[in-house]
Amino acid sequence: MFKLTVLPGDGIGPEVTAEAVKVLQLVAARHDLEFYVEEALMGGCAIDDCGQPLPAQTLELCRQSDAVLLGAIGGPKWDTTDPDKPRPEQGLLGLRKGLELFANIRPVKVYDALIEASTLRAEVVRGIDLLVVRELTGGLYFGASAREGDRAFDTMDYQAFEVERLIKVAFEMALKRRGRVHSVDKANVLESSRLWRETVIKVSVDYADVELIHQLVDNTAMQLIRNPGQFDVIATNNMFGDILSDESSMLSGSLGMLASASLGAQGPGLYEPIHGSAPDIAGQNKANPIATVLSVAMMFQYSFDLPEPALTIERAVDKVLADGHRTADIMSDGMKEVGTIEMGELIRAALD
Ligand code: IPM
Ligand code: MG
Repeated sequence: MFKLTVLPGDGIGPEVTAEAVKVLQLVAARHDLEFYVEEALMGGCAIDDCGQPLPAQTLELCRQSDAVLLGAIGGPKWDTTDPDKPRPEQGLLGLRKGLELFANIRPVKVYDALIEASTLRAEVVRGIDLLVVRELTGGLYFGASAREGDRAFDTMDYQAFEVERLIKVAFEMALKRRGRVHSVDKANVLESSRLWRETVIKVSVDYADVELIHQLVDNTAMQLIRNPGQFDVIATNNMFGDILSDESSMLSGSLGMLASASLGAQGPGLYEPIHGSAPDIAGQNKANPIATVLSVAMMFQYSFDLPEPALTIERAVDKVLADGHRTADIMSDGMKEVGTIEMGELIRAALD
């Protein structure tokens, strides 16, 4: 019996997690697995409920789970620049830190069926299959920061052990893929990047079978658009990874398709679609649940080491797309438009 905590969050979060959990339960039953699912509040909905984006009992429940599935958080209702007001994003950051989820894994795959959705030419993006491995509990997001009148600062602070454990994850993943890691830094300017690069080189001695390429972040931003086919695994710090993962995701042109995993050394992993809470379409049965469904597939793979159910889900998604079914965000001429619930039903029907 696995324990899963679901954090539906805000906006379209509850709609997409509902479909994904139904897929999960059906796949689990097919593979003789049992899941006990509990929901909790995190994000804007938690602020509305108790004034805090990450209530203590939510964090505790997550800690006691085998995995956590998150929908999306945030929305204009809670936007503020006032440092004394709670923000939904603090909930997510608290969860990452609280569960020590130092490695964020974001696969970017370009589906042939959706190749026209990319803003780049088909020949540039066809077959793209890359992985961004982003450090998630350090750097600019968690360094010393303050506001003093008209002055404010944030600090990019890294220790060698943080780089070491992250780059090991990247090397291990590369060994199971095409064996190439781009370690992305800004070592020509930043001290923290020079420590990053030195540490990566030290660890790389144990990974002779992985091709290691050091690349400066500005160059990577350019190369991702110029020739994304050169990338297999991109490993980088928290801030650079935030930016580069959004950029990479756009190669596929369909944010609604991309899943992610956040992993620690032990304890539950956190799985979530990379898209936001899309408040403009919330509650209208328009959201694309595929990214959340594929996040469940990642959960089977990374938290439970069960590649079979993961594959079953991925194949079902492939089939539904091949049959021409599309939610509004990936709709194109000649395809059949469906809503969130119908897409969930189609995926479940395609599991057989
Ligand atoms: C992401 C998001 C978050 C981040 C926000 C919502 C705090 O952009 O997961 O990439 O910056 O890490
Ligand atoms: Mg981001």
